[in-house]
Amino acid sequence: MKKFKRYLITSALPYANGPIHIGHLAGVYVPSDIYTRYLRLRKRDVIHVCGSDEHGVPITFKARQEGITPQQIVDRYHEMNKKAFEDFGISFDIYSRTSNALHYETASEIFRKLDEKGEFIEKTTPQYFDEEAGQFLADRYIQGTCPHCGNENAYGDQCEKCGSSLNATDLINPRSTISGSTPVMKDTRHWFLPLDKYEPFLKNWILEGKKHWKPNVYGQCKSWLDHGLQPRAVSRDLDWGVPVPVENAEGKVLYVWFDAPIGYISATKELTEDWEKYWKDSDTRMIHFIGKDNIVFHCIVFPSVLNAEGSYILPDNVPANEFLNLENDKISTSRNWAVWLHEYLGDFPGREDVLRYVLCANAPETKDNDFTWKDFQARNNNELVAIYGNFVNRAIVLTHKYFQGKVPGCGELNDYDRKVLAEMPVIRKNLENSMEQFRFREALKEAMTLARLGNKYLADTEPWIIFKNNPERVKTILNISLQICASLSVVTEPFLPRSAARLKGFLNTGDIDWELAGTADLIPAGHVIGKGGLLFEKVTDEEIDKQINKLMATRKQNEKVTDSLPPVKGNISYEEFSAMDIRTGTILSAEKVAKTKKLLKLSIDTGIDTRTVVSGIAEHFDPAKITGMQVSILVNLEPRKIRGIESQGMILMAEDTEGKLVFISPADKIHNGSVVR
Ligand code: 2FM
Ligand code: ZN
Repeated sequence: MKKFKRYLITSALPYANGPIHIGHLAGVYVPSDIYTRYLRLRKRDVIHVCGSDEHGVPITFKARQEGITPQQIVDRYHEMNKKAFEDFGISFDIYSRTSNALHYETASEIFRKLDEKGEFIEKTTPQYFDEEAGQFLADRYIQGTCPHCGNENAYGDQCEKCGSSLNATDLINPRSTISGSTPVMKDTRHWFLPLDKYEPFLKNWILEGKKHWKPNVYGQCKSWLDHGLQPRAVSRDLDWGVPVPVENAEGKVLYVWFDAPIGYISATKELTEDWEKYWKDSDTRMIHFIGKDNIVFHCIVFPSVLNAEGSYILPDNVPANEFLNLENDKISTSRNWAVWLHEYLGDFPGREDVLRYVLCANAPETKDNDFTWKDFQARNNNELVAIYGNFVNRAIVLTHKYFQGKVPGCGELNDYDRKVLAEMPVIRKNLENSMEQFRFREALKEAMTLARLGNKYLADTEPWIIFKNNPERVKTILNISLQICASLSVVTEPFLPRSAARLKGFLNTGDIDWELAGTADLIPAGHVIGKGGLLFEKVTDEEIDKQINKLMATRKQNEKVTDSLPPVKGNISYEEFSAMDIRTGTILSAEKVAKTKKLLKLSIDTGIDTRTVVSGIAEHFDPAKITGMQVSILVNLEPRKIRGIESQGMILMAEDTEGKLVFISPADKIHNGSVVR
């Protein structure tokens, strides 16, 4: 295998339109951080770059929903996510953002270079346009009826009711969510990246050269390439993003997936003047950590851009993970079905490493996996506390008890000692091998094998029993145990950095060279260790119940909302709302309409006049009981004939999910004819 001089680790830039959750962590940031910390410990030249992905339609959409600017949205989540990553101990060398000026420059420069080289195809295609708002509509800004399930509020890219993915042109009765008007088709010009033209390069580079990539990644690439690639538009009609940096491109910005991966380059530039050696020297090994939904962009689109540009290196590996579920259900931001990092940090202060441990031990490396709070508790209590913590604590307490905290010398070895000492370097080698292959679960297991070895060694040799008769033997046992503790403080560092640092404090060792791990030369005899303490604490049933109850409340809420309440209709303008003339009125009389089951004929005093309204509420109300009630009535609804009777308005009602009906009545008596608004 090629010997690289340096490493460039990138972690997918999370969108700055929501907080970080455990799915992000397990898929991308825990593995990338483990790997980077490992490389640093091995003294490799490495940088780890990340930042906020701040463009794209969902951000403009959220801003519009909240009535604030996209910049305000990204400012909020950029700060929040940056802090959460820091507090959690993800050790980026830089956490940048794609709304900064350096990124605009970098992305523009690359676009311009491709444009000058004639790489793009420019094409004019028809697209939905909102004439009232005077703008082209991204798919998310169009709603209409789903052709598959009839949902009237399907979006131009997806129907959230039946899950079908849609094209905006599939929608029946499309409407703009910006103005409510019916959009028209209008021609618009865009820049396309000719992926079809790059197919030979990609086939050779991936299908021939990357057979060692993870099967899920290689497989997805192969499937894309086997199906044949199409040119992809890399610009959009939008007012938020990097403006297309050529002439006559007003109102057009770079597609978010064109500029986002370039964010890795901008972040590196921001980090170091020496950025080019990381991006343009073939001795650099670039590795993209991403989730599986990002594979095509990192393995096909971005490498095509870099290759067409001509002066950049390509990723050496893209160890994408599958997805993490939560309590057997897909993690979902919109359904609030997630464990949010900032909330975890608040609920479990000082226990960042526990979450890192569980997310790594159960990482979705080869298939989707499930996070459950019971498993979180079990792994903490049965593994971290009962094995790792217990072993370390015993070794330290006994050293204080028998030798006043001074590391005893190692005496004559017996077969068991020799076996244990021989196993230690093997464990380290196995761990290294797993790390190099991005198998972090396996690597963590190896680290825990070392803790298990120590724990069993102490349990089997029982120094607390033999000390009375054979203190010399106990010296050897504790010496070996402390060497194992010191090795643990090194090899667990990539996974559990804060606990490893505390353990080094307990042992009073300071930094220890990785290369010494697994040997018996980490702590010399006579060295005085520190006081010690508990490395991990039990997670209680109450703590877990609290988390589970929180999720149950969310589930209940979601069931209510999604199962029974109709979805929110498309926005209307204030003008449309104020066109409705709603007044208070009193029911003067009510009688059933002959030969119907449902209809009541009501006579209403509207304050303006007395009018007749026919309403389908006979099954719900006793005419005698509603006479005299004050209600709200829409008085300017087009009159229409129902069973030969002209109905001159509509009584407003609320209907709950069980079909119960109630009048919308004023809370206090008020003159009939008062305006409701
Ligand atoms: O899927 C996502 O969350 C994207 N924001 C990832 C972007 S990765 C890179 F290209 F910036
Ligand atoms: Zn549908």
